[in-house]
Amino acid sequence: MTKIFILLLFFVGVLTQNVTIYKRLCFFNKSETNCMCRFKTKPGFNIPVLSADCTSLNFKEFPRDVQIPSVEDLDLSKNEITQLDSFTNNFQSFKLLSVKLSFNKLTSISQDFFKNTPNLKQLDLSHNNIAKFENSNIFRGLTNLTVLNLSFNSLSTVPEDIFKPLFKLKELDLSYNYLGATLMNSEDFFKSTLGVSPSLEILKIDGIGITQLNYNYFETASNLKYLSISDNFLQVIPKLPYTIGYLDLSGTHIRTISANHLDYHSLKVLKLNRLKKLEKIEHYAFYNLIALEELHLSESKSLNELSDLVFGVMTDEINWSLKKLYLSRTGIQKLNSTFLNLFKNLQHLDLQSNPWTCTCDILWLQKLNGSLYRDDNIRCLSPFNLRTTSIMKLTSNNLPDCFENANSYQRIMISIMGILIGILIILILYLIYLGPFYQTNKEIGPESPYRGNTVGIDPNKAEHLNI
Ligand SMILES: *[C@@H]1O[C@H](CO)[C@@H](O)[C@H](O)[C@H]1NC(C)=O
Ligand SMILES: *[C@@H]1O[C@H](CO)[C@@H](O)[C@H](O)[C@H]1NC(C)=O
Ligand SMILES: *[C@@H]1O[C@H](CO)[C@@H](O)[C@H](O)[C@H]1NC(C)=O
Ligand SMILES: *[C@@H]1O[C@H](CO)[C@@H](O)[C@H](O)[C@H]1NC(C)=O
Ligand SMILES: *[C@@H]1O[C@H](CO)[C@@H](O)[C@H](O)[C@H]1NC(C)=O
Ligand SMILES: *[C@@H]1O[C@H](CO)[C@@H](O)[C@H](O)[C@H]1NC(C)=O
Ligand SMILES: *[C@@H]1O[C@H](CO)[C@@H](O)[C@H](O)[C@H]1NC(C)=O
Repeated sequence: MTKIFILLLFFVGVLTQNVTIYKRLCFFNKSETNCMCRFKTKPGFNIPVLSADCTSLNFKEFPRDVQIPSVEDLDLSKNEITQLDSFTNNFQSFKLLSVKLSFNKLTSISQDFFKNTPNLKQLDLSHNNIAKFENSNIFRGLTNLTVLNLSFNSLSTVPEDIFKPLFKLKELDLSYNYLGATLMNSEDFFKSTLGVSPSLEILKIDGIGITQLNYNYFETASNLKYLSISDNFLQVIPKLPYTIGYLDLSGTHIRTISANHLDYHSLKVLKLNRLKKLEKIEHYAFYNLIALEELHLSESKSLNELSDLVFGVMTDEINWSLKKLYLSRTGIQKLNSTFLNLFKNLQHLDLQSNPWTCTCDILWLQKLNGSLYRDDNIRCLSPFNLRTTSIMKLTSNNLPDCFENANSYQRIMISIMGILIGILIILILYLIYLGPFYQTNKEIGPESPYRGNTVGIDPNKAEHLNI
């Protein structure tokens, strides 16, 4: 009898609990337990959509569909949700378009949790503790999904083909997981090719421990336009689809850059910052990048020189596509003056904080005075007496040798002029004074017919002359 009573109490308890759990969450104002729901107009659409701001409410579970009916934009960031379980929460909504679950405590997502939200377009699961997916059917229902964010989780493996059902996926972010942590696990993900649909355009796989990729790894991503693969252990630039327009390889272990790896005619932005091991950029390395507009080559300390042929022969007639060049905090000490042909066409040029050697060969940089980004930070490191002197402010006082050429040329010109003038003056004087005297002299010279007469005028003097 008491047992039955207790059981009854239990059911009553569950019932009432059910009622309290499933209270509506959407209110105009946010409180400690309520979401703030708003009609808002999406850019480009005039139809108002309902958005629910449920951030930082200490939710431990994903809300039930009845609690947030009609919501299209659901933001559940910064809660305490640990799992998405389709057995305890059969969430259904045809309205739901976007779910943000970043900064929760998610460890697992059950298969089919998203089965009944077929119109979901954006799913943000970043900054959680997801270590693995049970199988490759987790995202099966999400045929309309365009953005999936799994960055900053603890994934060490991803089942093959888990992203294949996402036919419309445009953006995938897997950055900062441990996918390459061990060879055993990484095999799944780095085996053969990246299993995505050809719809993928943006892929972020920064900091996931990639050491190398198959030659045809990106084959399935045949329309890839944006790839961020920075902070991996890659030593060579991987083979990419020719559609690539943005490529970030910063913080990788690339040692050399050559034209063989960079023949992408659509590439507009190339980031090669923080390449600790980069020592050489080969001749013509960037020559094939005919659409390149922005090149980042900063903070690679081992890069000591930049050949004057990395962009090919830099003549005056080239129509440069390049608009921005970032070349700061490298090991580069000097640049050939033919770079002037490129540099004078740039909209932004950053040459800050390189260890410049200030010889006469550096002075051409002064022609860019005023067009360099923070040109006050372009300073000599050597020779010692010029250390920290701004290159734009170098004068003949700092580098007398470079300006001496000009001076000695002037001096020679002045000397020649002086000599010429001197000769001219002597000539004039000679003509004025000595010319007529010579004439008289001739008249009374030794061969003069009047000689006897002259001697006759003053006999003493004549005797003197004969001695
Ligand atoms: C709680 O409510 C849901 C729907 O509102 C219902 O399907 C479920 O059976 C209820 N649970 C219990 C234990 O009554
Ligand atoms: C919402 O809060 C504001 C003040 O923060 C208050 O003026 C307003 O009356 C509240 N609205 C509702 C519907 O509670
Ligand atoms: C979702 O995809 C289905 C077909 O896969 C389509 O009929 C439906 O219109 C899509 N929904 C949206 C919002 O695009
Ligand atoms: C994914 O989330 C991270 C961190 O919240 C963010 O920086 C990144 O831009 C997001 N990626 C996409 C594709 O939305
Ligand atoms: C450079 O571009 C201009 C106009 O955009 C064009 O007239 C000229 O022929 C081009 N020169 C070269 C060398 O391609
Ligand atoms: C600069 O480059 C030109 C053309 O490539 C070359 O002839 C010249 O010797 C180089 N100057 C220096 C100082 O290396
Ligand atoms: C560069 O420009 C600054 C001001 O714009 C001027 O003070 C300086 O003398 C210039 N330096 C050279 C070398 O022309």
